[in-house]
Amino acid sequence: MNDRLGADAPRLIILLVGAVGAGKGTQAAILSRELRLPHLASGNLFRAAMAAHTELGDEARGFMERGELVPDEMTIRMFMEELGASRAARGAILDGFPRTVGQARALDETLARQGERIRRVIYIDVPTEDLIRRVAGRWICLQCGTPYHETTDPPMVDGHCNRDGSVLTQRDDDRPEVVRARLERQVPPMLEVVDHYQRAAIVDRLDGTRPIEEVTAEILSRIGETAASA
Ligand code: AP5
Repeated sequence: MNDRLGADAPRLIILLVGAVGAGKGTQAAILSRELRLPHLASGNLFRAAMAAHTELGDEARGFMERGELVPDEMTIRMFMEELGASRAARGAILDGFPRTVGQARALDETLARQGERIRRVIYIDVPTEDLIRRVAGRWICLQCGTPYHETTDPPMVDGHCNRDGSVLTQRDDDRPEVVRARLERQVPPMLEVVDHYQRAAIVDRLDGTRPIEEVTAEILSRIGETAASA
C-alpha cells in the first residue's frame, strides 16, 4: 500500500474515532508503522505539554483531570500546528481530534483551503462495559505514548515499552471516577462528529471488540480501498 502513497498522491489523512479505550491509540501506533505516516494524537500532545509544564499543558491539566474536553480554541490551535508540520507532509493518522463538531469544521475548513479533505473516518465501536475493563488494565509509555494492556496486549518485557524500553505507567485520568466522567461528557460530542462525517459518506464503523490484529487488518483493508480510489 505504501507504493500508492507516493510523492504525487494526495495527502492521506485518516481519522480514528471511538470512545475512551476503544483502541484508537493502539491502532494508530500500528498504522503509523505500517503506512509510515505520523500518528498525531491530541491526548498525547496534551500529556507532553503537561509533562513539560508549558502554558498550554498547565491550562489543559484541570480539564483532563476532571474528564472534560479541553476547550476547542486551545485544542484547534495546538492540533493545526502539528498537522501543518513537515512530518505530516504525506498525510497522518489522526487520533482523538476532532472530537467536537466545532473542531471538525475548523479542520475541514483548514484542509479545504489547501484543496484537501479527510479521506476516511474509522469509527471503532466497543460497548461501555468492555471500555471500562480495557482502561483499568492499561499501561502507557510516557515517552512515545504507546498503550499496552495487562492481559490483552502485554509488553515483551514486563513494565517496559517494546519500542524504546521506557518504564510504563498508568494514566491519572484512568481512575474509575474520571473514566465515568470521560464517557458521560465525551461520547455525545464524539457521536456528533461521526454524524458530521457520515453526511459525507466517509465513515466506516468497525466492531472494535475483536482481537487487535483483526481490527488492524480490517482498517488496513478499508484504507487500501480509499488509497486505491484516490
Ligand atoms: P485521549 O488521550 O485521546 O484519551 P481518550 O480519547 O479517552 O482515548 P484513550 O487514550 O483513553 O483510548 P484509546 O481509544 O486510545 O484506547 P487505547 O488504544 O489506549 O484524551 C485524554 C484527554 O485529553 C481527554 O479526556 C480530554 O480531556 C483531552 N483531549 C484529548 N483530545 C481532545 C480534543 N480533541 N478536544 C478536547 N479535549 C481533548 O486502548 C485502551 C486499552 O485497551 C489498552 O490497554 C489496549 O492495550 C487495549 N486494547 C486496545 N484494543 C484492544 C482490542 N481490540 N482488544 C482488547 N484490548 C484492546
